[in-house]
Amino acid sequence: MKIAIIGGGPAGLYSAILLKKQRPEAEITVYERNRADDTFGFGVVFSDATLDNFERYDAPSYRRITQEFAYWDDIAVHFRGTVHRVGGNGFCGCSRRKLLLILQERARELGVHLLFQSDIDDITGLADADLVVLADGINSRFRERYADHFQPEIDVRSNVFAWMGSSRPLDAFTFIFQETEWGPFIAHAYQYEMGHSTWIFETDPETFERAGLKNLDEKQSADRMAEIFGWFLDGHPLLTNRSMWRNFPMIRSKRWVRDNMVLIGDAKATAHFSIGSGTKLAMEDAIALADALHRAPTIEQALKLYEHGRREEVEKTQHAADVSLVWFEHVDRFWDFDPVQFAFGVMTRAKAITYDNLTLRAPEFVNEVDKAFANQVRAGGFDVDVAKPLAPMFQPLRLREMALANRAVVSPMCMYSAKEGVPGDFHLVHYGSRAIGGAGLIFTEMTCVSRDARITPGCAGLWNDEQEASWRRIVDFVHANSGAKIALQLGHAGRKGATKLMWDGMDRPLEEGGWDVQSASPIPYFPDSQIPREMDRAAMDAVKASFVAAAERGERCGFDMLELHCAHGYLLASFISPLTNQRTDEYGGALANRLRFPLEVFEALRAAWPAHKPMSVRISATDWAEGGITGDDAVEIARAFAEVGVDLVDVSTGQTVRDAQPIYGRMFQTPFSEQVRNEARVATMCVGNITTADQVNTILAAGRADLVALGRPHLVDPAFTLKAAAWYGADDIACPPQYLPGKEQIFRNSVRDRQDFDDLKIKAKPKTRAELKSEATKPLAAE
Ligand SMILES: Cc1cc2nc3c(=O)[nH]c(=O)nc-3n(C[C@H](O)[C@H](O)[C@H](O)COP(=O)(O)OP(=O)(O)OC[C@H]3O[C@@H](n4cnc5c(N)ncnc54)[C@H](O)[C@@H]3O)c2cc1C
Ligand SMILES: Cc1cc2nc3c(=O)[nH]c(=O)nc-3n(C[C@H](O)[C@H](O)[C@H](O)COP(=O)(O)O)c2cc1C
Repeated sequence: MKIAIIGGGPAGLYSAILLKKQRPEAEITVYERNRADDTFGFGVVFSDATLDNFERYDAPSYRRITQEFAYWDDIAVHFRGTVHRVGGNGFCGCSRRKLLLILQERARELGVHLLFQSDIDDITGLADADLVVLADGINSRFRERYADHFQPEIDVRSNVFAWMGSSRPLDAFTFIFQETEWGPFIAHAYQYEMGHSTWIFETDPETFERAGLKNLDEKQSADRMAEIFGWFLDGHPLLTNRSMWRNFPMIRSKRWVRDNMVLIGDAKATAHFSIGSGTKLAMEDAIALADALHRAPTIEQALKLYEHGRREEVEKTQHAADVSLVWFEHVDRFWDFDPVQFAFGVMTRAKAITYDNLTLRAPEFVNEVDKAFANQVRAGGFDVDVAKPLAPMFQPLRLREMALANRAVVSPMCMYSAKEGVPGDFHLVHYGSRAIGGAGLIFTEMTCVSRDARITPGCAGLWNDEQEASWRRIVDFVHANSGAKIALQLGHAGRKGATKLMWDGMDRPLEEGGWDVQSASPIPYFPDSQIPREMDRAAMDAVKASFVAAAERGERCGFDMLELHCAHGYLLASFISPLTNQRTDEYGGALANRLRFPLEVFEALRAAWPAHKPMSVRISATDWAEGGITGDDAVEIARAFAEVGVDLVDVSTGQTVRDAQPIYGRMFQTPFSEQVRNEARVATMCVGNITTADQVNTILAAGRADLVALGRPHLVDPAFTLKAAAWYGADDIACPPQYLPGKEQIFRNSVRDRQDFDDLKIKAKPKTRAELKSEATKPLAAE
């Protein structure tokens, strides 16, 4: 068998090693355009888990690599004169040059042909190869040559960065966030061997421009960075090696395989340097490729297996890298944060590290985060304990005169079980039990302002006395038996009206018994949905009046808060999104025009709703569709509502058009809440695939939202918040006297359960190489 590998970087060399071990008889050649020790860059990083993999797949190169490594355990965040260190991270650094020399040596030893200074341009010269591995890096010539087939997407990011080196020793992975006269600069730095550290400098394009870096050469820009970070460099120089300022290209390829050619490493997909995974991904690709060739009977099947089996892992890493790079691109959002909260945000930016996880590893750090959070709450007028603070989830929040006992919220969820809009016994039990379950705030389902404002025949409403009486019974129950506040969500279905109950076909038009629907523009939701009537001014006035009448009824019911539903493609949302609003009058066109009617309704409600009671608005912060609402629009939308008195923006996404392409995942809508909160400077509630109290605390502590709503988790667990309170020891949570024995038991047991759980986690966690190394070098204690 003949294998040609184009590119002698980590991906190409490691695949040569693994394939040669697997098939000693194969003729394997690596073609590398540079010379053998001509490598660029400084250090590379690997996690302990990646090193475990290397050990399993090729022990000799693993041993040589780990002999050369620098280990560290801590991440240090420097910001505004403070430094926060968090241990237990288990990373290793190594010189890229040495790594490549080790891999070259090992490949040679196994009998791989290494051809340097051999720049491959024409693949036809390799026609006799059974397998061609394209490991030609980020600017892959062959990915581009066959772009029609591989279909790469290259997203060139806005921030600029440059790799440099230094002799400055470092005992932690170090992030430095530095204010300058031009704007913020960030240094990502780590030591990779004795006396050598990698320094990646990053900044936004405006700061780059203002700092005049565009016109400086490599040496001059290193001098400029040395001036900025001189206080930390401590007299050590900055070294350059092709240290040009560049923009990071986030590369994804739809296909990785073409006949007998396969893309691996940076050539097929990149991951932002802030999560230190470029070389790791490249070498793990080589492992996956070798595994697939071992398992499948033919090359064709093996390449399919590689692509199929590896894609999810790569995309997961890329997603984490994406989230991380976006955090760094928007660091200005957090620039005025308390430094400890800022550091918590850095640590938890990519979702893998959470509040609980940090509590295990760095309890003092999390305690400091909790204290800072409690201090902010205290400054807001609450007499909370700041010496022994409760977790953020159990800190109170005030919106106008409504004080919430905690930050957990039951998200609005239609139950499709009302009769002619009247909520019945099901609703009483449903809302009542969730209120008793401990959430600080519960929302009603979308409550429709008129009969023809309903989504389905089962939707609840508030347009007549019978409905008002039923809602009052629910509100009274909640107030009498729980510590929860209850918010009324008012909405109008618009073009999504006259559709079937959720379990009969979500958003599908009713076959019989429907009613006329209206919207901003006459565009049906599904091609076979009703064509909505385009609203004229009289229709708008009528809708506005029905919203106001329902709010007045809501006030008589005793609701604590009012939410205007402007999300999910319903009537008011259909005005906001350009995908559903094609009007040519003053309610269509620019965002300000599209917002005109929703704002008008909000202002009318605000006038009717008591001034001491808060109001929120629910928005879809993105349509997840080409040409639709984006996060930046959501900031403008939030600002517009804030100007007319909104107290909280309930940040949801999508459901505007049926061909949307949402990117789901844990906490997938939280980045939009973070953006709206910290750019529009308005309180937000986030929601969406948030399933644990740990996530709730992580989001709140990092300043990504002020309240956290959970929908589906509350459908199966009304006592979600009470259980979390027991876990975090928040024992002042309200509980009706009938249930006190249950509360006492869970609080008692939770202390032990939590201890057992933490012990298990600590025991299950293997020692990091840094810990093992420090144990091995510790002097023996005197007897
Ligand atoms: C300048 C630079 C500095 C970097 N520094 C660091 C760092 O300090 N730390 C870190 O963790 N990551 C660093 N990275 C990123 C990291 O190197 C990559 O994520 C990782 O190396 C990917 O491995 P790879 O084998 O896929 O690609 P690469 O390492 O880029 O290897 C591709 C190889 O293919 C060769 N090649 C390309 N085209 C041809 C051709 N037509 N014919 C023959 N040979 C060809 C190139 O010369 C190169 O050696 C750096 C990247 C760059 C571009
Ligand atoms: C059964 C069900 C009904 C819903 N009804 C409404 C509703 O009436 N109003 C609304 O704004 N959102 C509604 N939603 C959306 C939820 O409020 C929430 O945003 C969504 O479920 C995502 O959160 P989760 O992942 O915690 O479930 C509904 C969701 C579900 C599952």
